[in-house]
Amino acid sequence: MTTICPATMLQATSRIYCSSPTMAPKFANANAIVVDGTTFCLNGHNVSYCFHVDGKTGDLRTDHFGGSVTGPIPIDPAPVIDGWTGMPDRVRREFPDQGRGDFRVPAVRIRQSEGYTVSALKYQSYTVVQGKPALPGLPATFGTEQDVSTLVVHLYDEYSAVAADLTYSIFPEYDVIVRSASITNKGTRPITIESLASFSTDFPCEDLDMISLRGDWAREAHRVRRTVEYGTQGYVSEGTLSTLMEYTMLTCCNRFGSTTGFSSHLHNPFLAFAHTSTTESQGEAWGFSLVYTGSFEVNVEKGSQGLIRAVLGFHPNQMSWLLRPGETLVSPECVSVYSKDGLGGMSRSLHKLYRNHLMRSKFANASRPALLNSWEGLYFNIDERSMYRIAQESASMGVKLLVMDDGWFGKEHPRTSDAAGLGDWMPNPARFPHGLNQLVNKITSLKVANSSVNLRFGIWVEPEMVNPDSTLYREHPDWVLHADPYPRTEQRNQLVLNLALPEVQDFIIDFMSNLLNSADITYVKWDHNRPMNETPSPNATHAYILGMYRVFDTLTSRFPDVLWEGCASGGGRFDPGVLQFFPQIWTSDDSDAVERIFIQLGTSLAYPASAMGAHISAVPNHQTGRTTPLSFRAHVAMMGGSFGLELDPSEIPLEEKATIPELIALAEKVNPIVVTGDMWRLSLPDESNWPAVQFISEDRSQAVLFYFQLSPNVNHTMPRVRLQGLDMNAMYRVDGAGPYSGAMLMNLGLQYSFSTEYGSKVVFLAKQ
Ligand code: DGJ
Repeated sequence: MTTICPATMLQATSRIYCSSPTMAPKFANANAIVVDGTTFCLNGHNVSYCFHVDGKTGDLRTDHFGGSVTGPIPIDPAPVIDGWTGMPDRVRREFPDQGRGDFRVPAVRIRQSEGYTVSALKYQSYTVVQGKPALPGLPATFGTEQDVSTLVVHLYDEYSAVAADLTYSIFPEYDVIVRSASITNKGTRPITIESLASFSTDFPCEDLDMISLRGDWAREAHRVRRTVEYGTQGYVSEGTLSTLMEYTMLTCCNRFGSTTGFSSHLHNPFLAFAHTSTTESQGEAWGFSLVYTGSFEVNVEKGSQGLIRAVLGFHPNQMSWLLRPGETLVSPECVSVYSKDGLGGMSRSLHKLYRNHLMRSKFANASRPALLNSWEGLYFNIDERSMYRIAQESASMGVKLLVMDDGWFGKEHPRTSDAAGLGDWMPNPARFPHGLNQLVNKITSLKVANSSVNLRFGIWVEPEMVNPDSTLYREHPDWVLHADPYPRTEQRNQLVLNLALPEVQDFIIDFMSNLLNSADITYVKWDHNRPMNETPSPNATHAYILGMYRVFDTLTSRFPDVLWEGCASGGGRFDPGVLQFFPQIWTSDDSDAVERIFIQLGTSLAYPASAMGAHISAVPNHQTGRTTPLSFRAHVAMMGGSFGLELDPSEIPLEEKATIPELIALAEKVNPIVVTGDMWRLSLPDESNWPAVQFISEDRSQAVLFYFQLSPNVNHTMPRVRLQGLDMNAMYRVDGAGPYSGAMLMNLGLQYSFSTEYGSKVVFLAKQ
């Protein structure tokens, strides 16, 4: 059902009501959207998000984003206009346009055909929709009419005939509000969109910290928490920082983003706000997560009056979108969540929302097969014999899925190193003389030890790329991103295919379909190993991403039984846009278990453990040179939804190899809880020598505790580990011992000790 509130005459001094509260539409979630005249509130179980139309200007003014509020909201006293800037710069605005006296970061910047960038987008009307309409061409959260309700606010600039729609959807059960914006040219001359925010909102004057995830290749998702300072450039006093690098990192931004063309390892498209006193388990926290895989920008600006603006959307350096008369540009959507239970509560809401209302895959909430990936074991040295050998060894250890990584393809330009072959997606005849199908049949005929299933087969691809040394490039040099006459910069000896071109999209869809139809392949690792260079226009990156989504959408709909894993040199595209199509992502190319605790817990700030690929690799670790015990590596890997091994089994010392079936059995036991349970970060590696994580099953009958010691703790007691989220009054068996009450486990906690560095424990709790 759709309800439309028509355009209203706005009075100068007060809010105008175009419908009485009794006219508000009825929903499954009765109070999810409350419209009182031109005041709008979206209400979740514990959140309200409210704004109103300013009667004088027709601008949208933000009122509240936080704990639930009911009834009328008093109008803020008009700000004192005593100074140089005027009213627009001193109030909380919901969709700040540009050129009329608000000098903070705008949410939209439109260049009119005359060349100027003034806009006056004023309220016209609203529409309420039960459920949630899809976003054309873009990934988006979804839900039934019972799950989600949508409010569309229609704005119009009468001077330029430009319309803007702000679409807000509320998922009450998750305390999540999702927003996107669209701009339509209703005039007769072209306009250019130079920036467009998915989400923009102004917080009141208060002290907030902002938290983001920064990194680089093999060092993804490290948390940065800093005070929001005045301006868009944060200031951090030098005295608080220990290294020059830290100083450079922290002073760079109340503002961050990616201009690589992709979401990138450098900064994740995620932002959180928290009060300075907010912790993992207590206090208010807000999270924003952009459902987009392209370049993005997050701007946090504390204005001169102390109001805090958050703007998340396209990166303006890569946005100059021409809109001809009648055309519309739709922004990606941004998920926002409110938690009164600290950063942990914020993460849990996002995790659940993503598993249930973002990931389309049938595997989103399913246990994942324990796998063995060939990369770190064999790198490019693979062939029929070596693959079959590791398949046999995998099956004998209880592995359920063998993944053949890079190095299997290329005929005239064989992929024996990273210098050649990308683009030529047929098996290398010298390495696979009997073709793929025969090998896959042999592998999938192997019985997995201690189980009733056969080994399954998965394959690695990097479809968006081409090596110049390939048949594809020789035939289609114009298919890559390029800006002639500039040289085409290679990285890892490869160039990026331009997925904005329909013929490139069709090429990928066709070869992938043929590949998946050619053999019994039940898993695909979709890799992507470089950023975009020499893009021919600022629009090329968004056009690419739209084309890429078409490819992802077509293939994942065509092959719904395949388990798809995303990868971009590890976590270079760990974002909600990818998760719509691929339910899991290879979290990092750093497989060192200690590093992985940081990376996986950082990633978990925004993304569910179910989405993380995590493997046991060989020691000394190939990235860090560190040696950690097998059990430690295994326990860290079990915290990822997709557990596996990434080594040559023949190189595992015999006495360790004997324990692998047991470790796989443990991983399989905890996997359903890790994939579908609630995650509690009990202590962080950034703050403690004893990082600990707990997962509780959905029905709350089981829980699993992961507990680690990083450095030795000589001749000293260890702190107790206090569990969280259990039922106070219930009794739990702890690895068979007990039962103990939830109250005891949470208030007193468990005491363990480790005799060496890299100690680890996985503890299983079962409710009586
Ligand atoms: C980068 C990935 O992150 C690795 O896991 C591996 O698949 C290599 N690419 C293969 O080239």
